[in-house]
Amino acid sequence: MEHSVASTYTESSEFILPGDLNGLGYLFGGKLVSWIDKVGAISAIRHVRGTVVTVSIDNLIFKKPVTNGSVLTIRAAVNRAFRHSMEVGVVAETLAPGAETPVHVCTAYLTFVALDKQGKPMDIPTVIPETDEEKRRFDQALIRRNHRLTLAEQLGKK
Ligand SMILES: CC(C)(COP(=O)(O)OP(=O)(O)OC[C@H]1O[C@@H](n2cnc3c(N)ncnc32)[C@H](O)[C@@H]1OP(=O)(O)O)[C@@H](O)C(=O)NCCC(=O)NCCS
Repeated sequence: MEHSVASTYTESSEFILPGDLNGLGYLFGGKLVSWIDKVGAISAIRHVRGTVVTVSIDNLIFKKPVTNGSVLTIRAAVNRAFRHSMEVGVVAETLAPGAETPVHVCTAYLTFVALDKQGKPMDIPTVIPETDEEKRRFDQALIRRNHRLTLAEQLGKK
């Protein structure tokens, strides 16, 4: 079975309120990570049409702070599927009050594993990249996967 990258596309927006901020008046990073994990998981669920768990979040970069009253938009899609796991790419951008154009604030790569009814990793459909951008992400996902698995092995975590 195979699905298009487009069929995994997921987008969600949040209105940033005072309760979301840290002591500096910027969006608390842990809150953003929680939203990223959720939107990424929905993308993975759309791909496997079943249960997934997050196994890793890496290359998470907070590029710019997010301020009170902004509209934060998080987008996710499956970059590449492997045997039991898939890499989901997530980007977040923010539109500050009165701003004309959104600003890219965060990128992250999440790996989700699909689980069967017994809670064991299960085979998943392949994902078909169609656009040039999807093909670039598909190719780069393999490089990132090799890095994360090699690192886990070298550190004796696998
Ligand atoms: C996800 C989990 C079931 C994997 O178990 P496991 O014994 O490592 O299973 P496997 O060795 O068969 O690996 C399963 C998949 O995870 C991938 N994986 C394992 N460790 C990984 C790591 N550090 N980084 C990226 N992928 C990893 C494997 O490559 C494999 O995918 P593949 O078949 O596509 O190559 C287990 O680690 C787990 O339950 N983790 C907790 C998940 C969780 O609670 N998340 C937070 C809440 S959702």
